[in-house]
Amino acid sequence: MIQLNQVEKTYTNNNEKIIALRQVTMNVDEGIFMAIRGPSGCGKSTLLFTVGGLLKPNSGTVRIEEIDLYTISADQRAQYRAQKIGFVFQRFHLVPYLNVLDNVLAASLALKDLNKQMKINLRNRALELIEHFGLTDRLLHIPSKLSTGERQRVALARALLNQPSILLADEPTGNLDDGNTEMVYQYLIAHTNNGGTVLLATHDQQVASYAHKTIQMDNGKLDLKTKLQKVSKNLEFTKRALFLPKQLTNILINVSLIFIPKTS
Ligand SMILES: Nc1ncnc2c1ncn2[C@@H]1O[C@H](COP(=O)(O)OP(=O)(O)OP(=O)(O)O)[C@@H](O)[C@H]1O
Ligand SMILES: [Mg+2]
Repeated sequence: MIQLNQVEKTYTNNNEKIIALRQVTMNVDEGIFMAIRGPSGCGKSTLLFTVGGLLKPNSGTVRIEEIDLYTISADQRAQYRAQKIGFVFQRFHLVPYLNVLDNVLAASLALKDLNKQMKINLRNRALELIEHFGLTDRLLHIPSKLSTGERQRVALARALLNQPSILLADEPTGNLDDGNTEMVYQYLIAHTNNGGTVLLATHDQQVASYAHKTIQMDNGKLDLKTKLQKVSKNLEFTKRALFLPKQLTNILINVSLIFIPKTS
């Protein structure tokens, strides 16, 4: 579970203070796909960076599974992030001189003590994700030889490589066509069906019909009223899937990784 309590974040720029997060308090339970929507500059990316252990708030606490993220050491936080949290950056942050496969595998560099079999498994998973996101024929391309939407899908595959229980996604569909957008949302739903948690920032209005909860953000504040937003059309499916034995949902996800056809 993700728990934010009274989180404040202020940036200082040329002596000017910008309050990006104002007393943000929220919980995201396991198995939930939560979307944050709001105008440009309202603080969505700042919120995700803070939850992802990448940006210390000025005050307030961020807890993930009872661990207070900013009281542990930077090294411990980096390890925790590598194992538990996948992050899709709004600006992708791909390594410019690495090809698609190596960019996806780069997520495993932070993992310690990998043996040979674990490395083989990671490579196979990277290839599965690349296939799932329709990039197999771009495997050896470096980012500058990819379209923006292809880069976005590489960033998503990289975020998912280590099978993080928590996925933080900053505008992950911002450059995708409708087919790929649908495919990404369905993947995120499958991730939550399997017990994972998704916190996603977006401008995309469509997200409300996929996410379990959509919260509006404005000027650094969450509009808590919108927490009570209608249950999405996918929730019934999700609920049913949550009752499946974990092994079965794992198999379903693996099967979907292999067989879902490319949509573009
Ligand atoms: N490093 C920084 N230094 C100073 N101000 C910043 C910094 N990063 C963000 N801000 C400011 O903080 C506010 C929140 O920015 P943030 O990037 O979180 O917004 P956002 O909702 O993600 O916007 P967008 O939808 O355009 O991505 C904005 O007013 C922005 O100008
Ligand atoms: Mg942003």
